[in-house]
Amino acid sequence: MCIFSTLWSFSYWITIVIILIYVIHLVATWNYDYFSKRNIPYSRPVPFLGSMTPQLFGRKSNADVVWELYKKYKGHRLSGFFQFHKPITFINDSELIKMIMVKDFDHFVDHETLIPSEVDPLFGGNLFFLKDKDVHTMDMKDFFTRFASDVIATAAFGIKVNSMKDPTNEFYKAGKQLANFEGLKNLILLGYLFCSKLMTMLRIPFLARGASDFFRNVVKTNIRTREKEGIIRPDMIHLLMQARKVEPTKDTEQDENTGNMSIGKAGKLDLTDEDIVAQAVVFFLAGFETTSTLLCYTAHLLAVNEDAQVRLQSEIDDMLRETEENITYEAIQAMKYLDMVISGLHRDPELFPEPDRFDPERFSEENKSSIKPFTYMPFGIGQRSCIGNRFALMEAKVALVYLLSKFSLRVVDKTTVEITFSANNSLAPTPKGGFWLGIQLRYRKE
Ligand code: HEM
Repeated sequence: MCIFSTLWSFSYWITIVIILIYVIHLVATWNYDYFSKRNIPYSRPVPFLGSMTPQLFGRKSNADVVWELYKKYKGHRLSGFFQFHKPITFINDSELIKMIMVKDFDHFVDHETLIPSEVDPLFGGNLFFLKDKDVHTMDMKDFFTRFASDVIATAAFGIKVNSMKDPTNEFYKAGKQLANFEGLKNLILLGYLFCSKLMTMLRIPFLARGASDFFRNVVKTNIRTREKEGIIRPDMIHLLMQARKVEPTKDTEQDENTGNMSIGKAGKLDLTDEDIVAQAVVFFLAGFETTSTLLCYTAHLLAVNEDAQVRLQSEIDDMLRETEENITYEAIQAMKYLDMVISGLHRDPELFPEPDRFDPERFSEENKSSIKPFTYMPFGIGQRSCIGNRFALMEAKVALVYLLSKFSLRVVDKTTVEITFSANNSLAPTPKGGFWLGIQLRYRKE
C-alpha cells in the first residue's frame, strides 16, 4: 500500500515535471518553425532569445551580424532571423525590394511600432512611427516657420540649421524674436508712426537688441572665416562679398542656368560688413513670415479642398516619375497646377467673383489674361517690387512638392475650417485658432 502510494506520487510528480518541461519548451521555442514551414533559410534561434545572442551578450555588433547573414544567405531571395520570438525577414533581392518599397508599397506602409504613442507620445507619436491610417495633428505655422527659417539661414546667412531636429537652436530663437511684431514692437511701431521725430531723438531701436547682435555676430564671423579659409558657398553672403570687390558695369550678365549675375570689373563697391548684415537681416524679415504664411494658407486650402489636393498630388507624382525623382528647378517651374494653386489668394468680389471660393482655375493659362492688370500683385509691381519673388515661390513650391509627395493634408478636430483673422496685428494675417491640420502618410503607385 505504502509502496503503491509512493509510486503513484512519484509518477504523478514525474508527469507534472514532464508537462512543465514541455510547456516551457513550447514557450521557449514558440514560433521558431515560422521559416522552416515556409522553406526559407534562417539563422538558428536559441530558446527564448531567438537569433539575438551575439548582440545581447555584446559579442558582435548589429552591423556585423547583418553583414554575416547577408553573406551566408547571398543567392537566396529571402532569409530569416528571430528577434526573440518575432520572425524578421531579410530581403536579399533588389527586384523584391523594389516591389515592397515602391510597386506594392500600399501593403507595407507602416514602420514597426516600438513604443506605443499612448505610453510615450513624443517617441511613439513622431513621423517615423506614423501608421498608414494615422492622422497626426500638427501646428502648420510652427512647421512652416521652422522650414522658412532654415531656408533663410542657409541662403542668406550662409549657415546650416535644422529647426525640426533641433527645435531650440539659437538661429531659430533669434529669428522668432526678430520677426515678432507683437506687443512692445507694435507700440514702438505706433510711436514711429505717431511721432517719428521724438522716437528718433530718443534713439529707440525697433529690432530686439539681443537678436540683432546675434545675427551681426553670425554674419561677421562667417565673412571672416570665408576670407581666412577661402571658402566659397553659393549663397547671398558670397554674392555680397563678391559685389564689394568689384562694381557692376555694363558687361554685367546673368547666367542662363543659375540665374547668378556675373559682375563686370571696375572699381570697388562701398559695402561694409554692417551693410551685408543689414541685407541678410532684411531677407530674414521679408522672407520668413511671408513665405511661411503663404505655405500655411495654401496647405489649409488644400486640406479643405480635397479635389485640388488630389489633382496637385497627381501632378507631383507625374513629375517625380518623369524626372526619376531628380527634382530640378525646371521640372518645378513646369508644374502648371502647382503654380495655379499657390497663386490663389484674393478678396474683392468685383475683381474676383466668389473670392472666398478656392479656385486655382482663375490662374490657368487661359484665365490668367482676364485678370485686370494692377489688381493682382502679391509681390508688388515695378521698381520696388519684391526682390525675393522668384525665390519665395520656388521655396514654397519645393516645400509643397516634398510634403505632398509623401503625405496628405487633412481637416481634423482642431482645424478652423472657416478662417477669421485674429486681431493680434502681427506682420502677416493669422487665423483665430491657428493653423492646425492633420497629416497622413500616403503612397504613390509607380
Ligand atoms: C510669399 C512670400 C513673399 C511675399 C508675398 C512678398 C511680398 C513683398 C511685397 C508686397 C513687397 C513690397 C513691394 C512694393 O513695395 O511694391 C516686398 C518687398 C521686398 N521683399 Fe518680398 N515677399 C515675399 C518673400 C520675400 C523673400 C523670400 C525675400 C528675400 C529673400 C523678400 C525680400 C524682399 C525685399 C528685400 C523687399 C524690398 C524691395 C525694395 O524695396 O526694393 N521677400 N515683398
